[in-house]
Amino acid sequence: MQVHVSNDAATSVATGALVVPVFAGGAVTGVAAEVDTVLGGAIADILASGEIAGKPNETSLVHAKDAPFKRVLVVGLGEREKFTVDALAKYAGTAVRYLGKRGVAALAVALPEGVDAALAASFVAEGAIAATIDTTIYRTEADKPVVTTAVTILAGTHDRAAVDAGAKRGSILGEAVNAARMMALTPANDMTPTHLANRAKELANDAGLEFDVLDEARMEQLGMGSLLGVSRGSDEPATLSVMTYKGDPSSTETIALVGKGLTFDSGGISIKPAENMHEMKYDMSGGAGVIAAMWAIGKLRPKVNVIGLIPSSENLPGHRAMKPGDILRAMNGKTIEVINTDAEGRLILADALCYARKLGATKIIDAATLTGACVIALGHAASGTMSNDDAFVERFLKTVADCGERYWRLPLYPDYDQQIKSDIADLKNTGGRAAGAETAGTFLKNFVAETPWIHLDVAGTAYLDGESPFMAKGPTGTPVRAFVNIVEDFAKNGAPANGVAKSATAATVA
Ligand code: BES
Ligand code: MN
Ligand code: ZN
Repeated sequence: MQVHVSNDAATSVATGALVVPVFAGGAVTGVAAEVDTVLGGAIADILASGEIAGKPNETSLVHAKDAPFKRVLVVGLGEREKFTVDALAKYAGTAVRYLGKRGVAALAVALPEGVDAALAASFVAEGAIAATIDTTIYRTEADKPVVTTAVTILAGTHDRAAVDAGAKRGSILGEAVNAARMMALTPANDMTPTHLANRAKELANDAGLEFDVLDEARMEQLGMGSLLGVSRGSDEPATLSVMTYKGDPSSTETIALVGKGLTFDSGGISIKPAENMHEMKYDMSGGAGVIAAMWAIGKLRPKVNVIGLIPSSENLPGHRAMKPGDILRAMNGKTIEVINTDAEGRLILADALCYARKLGATKIIDAATLTGACVIALGHAASGTMSNDDAFVERFLKTVADCGERYWRLPLYPDYDQQIKSDIADLKNTGGRAAGAETAGTFLKNFVAETPWIHLDVAGTAYLDGESPFMAKGPTGTPVRAFVNIVEDFAKNGAPANGVAKSATAATVA
C-alpha cells in the first residue's frame, strides 16, 4: 500500500473514490460541505433522511458521474465532542475495506478540520494500511481481497509538512502493526520458536538493528532454568531473540521491551481443553509486538536506546516435559514450584526479564497474552496494566491514551505476594483463581528487582474473534502502537528519573 499526500482540493481531485468525514448531529460541515456543493446536496440529504446518522464508521456511497472523483464515500466520525484523533485510523480503515472490496484501487481521503495535522495523517496512514490485510493466506483462493493499493491524504488547509511527516510515521506504524499481525496469524507449524527468531532477525536487519539470538546452550550457561523448563516438553528448541537499537549512545538510559513468544500453548501436562485450543497459536502476540515495534523504532530513529527481547518456546506435554510439582531455578537464582504447567508465560518471561537487566535495561515494559483472568476482568476492551512504579505507569497511561489501543491499570497489592508463596520454594507459578491477572503480574515483579517496570496483559486484546468495518478478524497488532508511542515520548521528553516515586503497591518479596 502506497500512502501519498496531495494539496489537491477535495472538490476537484481525480481519484477512484473520495472519502469525506461527517460528524453525528445532522449539520454537514468543513470539507464534506465543500464536496456537497459539487454533489448538489446529496450528503445533506443522506443525513437528513436518516440513511446514516454519522455514527463512527457508518458509511454511505454517493456516485458522482460528472465529478473528477467517481464516487464519494461518506464515513461517520461520531459526535464531535467525543471525537479523538485516533478515530481517524478506523475512519480510513473503514473506507479502505469498504472500497477495496468493491474494486477501488486508488482513493483520496480528506481530513476533518480542527485536528493535529501530523497525528491525523499518521492515523489515516496507519489505519489504511492495517485495513488491507488478507487473513485468508492459506486459502487456495483468497476471500474478497482488498484491492486498494494507493491512498492519497488530502492536506486541505492543514500544514503540508506536518501531514507529510505524519503520513510517513503512520505508514511505518501501519506496516509494523501488519507485520505483528501476520506473525501472530501464522499457525504454530509454520511459526516455531526458530521461525519467530528468524523473523526477528529479518526485521532487525531491515531496520538496521543489532541482533542476537540465544540458543538453549547459552540459556543453560546463563542459568535460565525457568525458560528451559517450559521448552523441555517440546522437540522445538527455545530461542531468546535480542534486537538492539542505539538511538542515543551517549545516554545510560535503555528501555527494554519484552514480549511473550509462546508459539503454541497446549498447557503442557496440565493440558488445556480442546475447545479453542487452536487460538493458542496467538500466544506469541506479545513477542510479535516487540519484534514489530523494534522494526518501527529502527525505521523512525528516535533519540533513545531500546532493546527488544523475545523469549520463545512451545508448551507441549512431551515425555520430557516439566511436571506439576517440579522446581525450576531462574536466572536470578529464585526457585519456582510449578503448580500448573499452563502458567508457562510467566516462566519464560522470568528469565527474559532477568536478562533485560543484565543487558543494562533501566526501564522495562513487557507484553504477554498471560492470563484468562485478565480477559474476565477487562474483556476485549483494554489490556491489563500493572507496575512497580507509579510515575512510570502514569506517564505510560497518559502517553498511550489516544494511541488506538486501550490500557487500564490493575493493582499489585502486597497481599498478592502471599498467594504465590510456595511451601517448598521461593515462589509458585500460580496463585489460585482470585486476582489471576494480578498474581501473574506479582510473579513477574520478582524478576525485575528495583527496575521501573510495566507489565501489559494483552490476552483479551491481541486478537479478536469478530471482524470490524476497519479490520479483519484475528490479530489486532496490540501492543505495537503503545510500544512505539512510549518510546517516541521518551525520545522527545526524556525518561522519568528512576527511584523517585515508587509505587505503594510495589513491595517486593523478601
Ligand atoms: N496463554 C494463556 C493465557 C490466555 C488465555 C491467553 C486465554 C489468551 C486467551 C496462559 O499461558 C495460561 O494458560 N494462563 C492460565 C494461567 C493459570 C493456569 C494460572 C490461565 O489463564 O488459565
Ligand atoms: Mn498457558
Ligand atoms: Zn500461554
